[in-house]
Amino acid sequence: MAGPDIKVWDPLVRLFHWSLVASFAIAWLTADDWRDLHEWAGYAAGALIAFRLLWGFAGPRYARFSQFVRSPGTIARYLGSMLRGGEVRYVGHNPAGGAMIIALILCMGGTALTGWMYTRDAFWGVDWVLATHETLANTMLALVALHVLGVVVASLRHRENLARAMVVGRKRAPGIGDVA
Ligand code: HEM
Ligand code: HEM
Repeated sequence: MAGPDIKVWDPLVRLFHWSLVASFAIAWLTADDWRDLHEWAGYAAGALIAFRLLWGFAGPRYARFSQFVRSPGTIARYLGSMLRGGEVRYVGHNPAGGAMIIALILCMGGTALTGWMYTRDAFWGVDWVLATHETLANTMLALVALHVLGVVVASLRHRENLARAMVVGRKRAPGIGDVA
């Protein structure tokens, strides 16, 4: 039986999310031989990250960093309860998801920044800048894989389609024991 649902992800968070997915995919696929598109997709990703940093302070409840950035102890306890299969359901981002979001934001921001630096006279042809750019891009790929794995696990555990929630913005209302 489907319970009532509530609005969780505001339209800008959803637009941000899927635009970031698209810009990362395009930047990744064009990195080797489509430089103009690569740079534009990378700038788009950078602009999206800048917006998200502001929205984390100015956006509605579930968009705010203060709602989902948790202490290392809380994150460790949450991961422990996940391994034992008994983690509670969070309506917003869970502690592990929140940590992953910060990692994704920082890594994507760093990738865009080093990509841009490599096009400037000051850093053009500087090996460490390109090496860092590539390492961060590869790290992104690993983080995204873990992120999607986390989404799948949490969706199965709590019997809700979290990817769909990131499209429509709505989730099942908190039940007993859930963290609102
Ligand atoms: C390039 C690939 C991706 C990147 C960079 C990325 C990044 C992010 C970020 C930054 C957030 C935080 C949203 C916010 O509060 O602003 C997020 C959340 C989320 N992403 Fe992704 N994502 C990617 C791919 C995907 C894919 C393929 C799916 C679908 C399977 C997905 C499903 C979700 C869901 C469901 C959430 C909300 C998690 C929750 O319920 O706490 N993401 N993602
Ligand atoms: C944020 C998303 C981005 C991702 C995922 C990404 C990914 C990559 C990857 C994987 C490479 C290595 C390609 C190779 O091995 O030849 C690369 C190279 C490069 N990227 Fe990016 N990049 C991003 C953003 C940017 C931005 C914003 C710029 C500049 C405005 C940029 C400029 C470059 C340049 C100039 C190269 C060097 C190509 C070469 O000389 O080999 N990238 N990028």
